[in-house]
Amino acid sequence: MTDKYLTLVNMEHPIFRPVDRSELARPFKDYPHILMERTAASALRKLLSDIGGGDAIIPVSGWRSRREQKKIWTDTVAEKGVAFARKYVALPACSEHETGLAIDLALKAPDIDFICPEFPQTGICQIFRERAPHYGFIQRYSKEKEFITGIGEEPWHFRYVGTPHAVIMTEKKMSLEEYTDSMREDPAGDFSRYPEIRYAARKIR
Ligand code: DAL
Ligand code: ZN
Repeated sequence: MTDKYLTLVNMEHPIFRPVDRSELARPFKDYPHILMERTAASALRKLLSDIGGGDAIIPVSGWRSRREQKKIWTDTVAEKGVAFARKYVALPACSEHETGLAIDLALKAPDIDFICPEFPQTGICQIFRERAPHYGFIQRYSKEKEFITGIGEEPWHFRYVGTPHAVIMTEKKMSLEEYTDSMREDPAGDFSRYPEIRYAARKIR
């Protein structure tokens, strides 16, 4: 896969190459410890600024090192048990957070749950969710696709895939697994309305 923004990361597709730190940037100036891949960070900044969400929406977790993902996994298993951890925490090397392309967001509140932050389907968070695909972000883990992604519903976890992919995936209600599969199997077929997809598919082969 040449388009790094479409890289599939899950239990069956672990990360082999750690992200180069020079590719990371700060999407929120008030949260300098939160990092994302440069293009994703800038798309997120623009989205938040366009919807006026910069104060109410806060970042909980962006890029994670392998070591950090390991710690989150072991701490969650210890605190909440393995079934909960499997549902809401990817195994080390299998987390999109290690690519810098994922961000967990929360509605600003006095107490934020680090693993399952509140990002409701109302108000500014819902406006964010609806505008997100136009800036290249998808809500990666939905209830309907749990059987494909292997992860529980995460209304707070957004993944940068770029445009027009995010818009098409959202319109077609496709998980990243289904989308990348379709491109490999039938690059022109079902996606004939979308010349950009045919182009992306050529690069994958
Ligand atoms: N919460 C997601 C699945 C992760 O740990 O990457
Ligand atoms: Zn996440």
